[in-house]
Amino acid sequence: MIDNVTDLSYSETAKQEARKRFLSYFGKCISGVFVSTALITLFAILMVSDFARAFTPEYAAITAGRFIVTFILMVIFMLSIYSMHLGGEKNVRNFWIAVVTLTISVVLSITGSTVWNMYAMPIAFAALVVLEIMDVRSSMLTVAVTGVLIAISFLFSSGIKEYDMALVASGVICNSLSACVVAFFARKHYTRFKFLLVALLVPLAVQPLVIMTAIAMGDVTIDILWKVLYSYGADVVAALLFMPFVVLFEGVFNIADDFRLSELCNLSNPLLKRLASEAPGTFNHSLVVGTLAEACASAIGENPNLARCAAYYHDIGKLKAPLYFSENQSDYNPHDELIPEVSVSMITSHTLFGEILAKQNRLPSEIVEICRQHHGTAPVSYFFNKALNLKEEGNLAQDNYTYAGPKPQTKIAAIIMICDTVEAAIRSYIPETRDAYEKRIDMLVDDKVRLKQFDECPITLGDIAIIKKTVMESLASIHHGRIDYDKKKRRARS
Ligand SMILES: [Fe+2]
Ligand SMILES: [Fe+2]
Repeated sequence: MIDNVTDLSYSETAKQEARKRFLSYFGKCISGVFVSTALITLFAILMVSDFARAFTPEYAAITAGRFIVTFILMVIFMLSIYSMHLGGEKNVRNFWIAVVTLTISVVLSITGSTVWNMYAMPIAFAALVVLEIMDVRSSMLTVAVTGVLIAISFLFSSGIKEYDMALVASGVICNSLSACVVAFFARKHYTRFKFLLVALLVPLAVQPLVIMTAIAMGDVTIDILWKVLYSYGADVVAALLFMPFVVLFEGVFNIADDFRLSELCNLSNPLLKRLASEAPGTFNHSLVVGTLAEACASAIGENPNLARCAAYYHDIGKLKAPLYFSENQSDYNPHDELIPEVSVSMITSHTLFGEILAKQNRLPSEIVEICRQHHGTAPVSYFFNKALNLKEEGNLAQDNYTYAGPKPQTKIAAIIMICDTVEAAIRSYIPETRDAYEKRIDMLVDDKVRLKQFDECPITLGDIAIIKKTVMESLASIHHGRIDYDKKKRRARS
């Protein structure tokens, strides 16, 4: 008999955790499914069907069928969002953003197609918002579900009101394809202006598809021009509506999307300006860590913007007492007058103070967590050794000379830890040859592995090998003039 959780095998515990995570997600999201289903069903009945007749006994089965099919589709959507992202609070947030966006997109599309033209469906609105806040896969999924929901809205009106379903299908297909193409091309544009430009220009390339679809359906009249205008107009409406909604979601959910990250990386940001004037050494260190972390994140398929931004802010906690950190010192070192225990507490507290300062400045939670995690539970070796030398006899507990943690919980946090350590070490001593460089980086990273600092994040040994290589290449290009490549070649020849 299993008495408690410690008796379970590791895989059973992991399964229990996963089940708990899923149930928590389900509990927090199911109300969104109900509300969205009810809103879409009622709005579709109002606009596409006949509201008074839809609830009579004669048509009650159609109305119930419409609700049930919409509900099932929304549940599938909820489960798909869960399986596409890691579990946790961000997943719940992602679902709520996706479901609100999807509902607005369906409502706008039904309005456009019933009031103006069957091609006036701004499905691209859902594609753009979800793309910016999540990723291209979630964006395509939202487009697909939006398209099917619009089609269902018209399909379940047969019997009450008749629609040309071929026309509905062509409107949905053309606008969904346009939304997918926009999402595909907009995914790499990180400033608001570029994103808007792509969202306005790319749909033009899809308009020949509208013309071909209309001709295939036997329409060779001037109506084709209207279809093109309405189809493109819907994309323009989607692009213009998308910007205020993304700003709203950024504010409400404190999201680290690419727009927000690039704004936070702007060096005129008040917190970075403060870092530059009060702790110039830390500021320069953070910029170099940013360059390294961005390259490493790209190399292992993580978000390079988040890595750069997290690196810029990881040491803001040093603002509390900049002079206690070597990179900001010139002649005077306050640690000369302190006992090692006080020095350690001054040094290690910068992670906690960084977390507090990041929260006070409403930085995204991903960055707040990295301020706290970037040193993990590593020891402050210099002051531990100093304390050891001062102690006349007996041993010292190293635990009293370590950072409080937690250890890095994400791959980006692990990247910041590695780049931070390597940059600080290379800054104090630049190896003369490429071989020495490689050995030093290997030693620094292996030391973190030995101290089990990456045990709580999903980084792999393969990722660490790629990160080492990327750091080596990036640092070598930064310190190019100071590495003696010839010495290596000479040694290779001899
Ligand atoms: Fe730090
Ligand atoms: Fe640092």
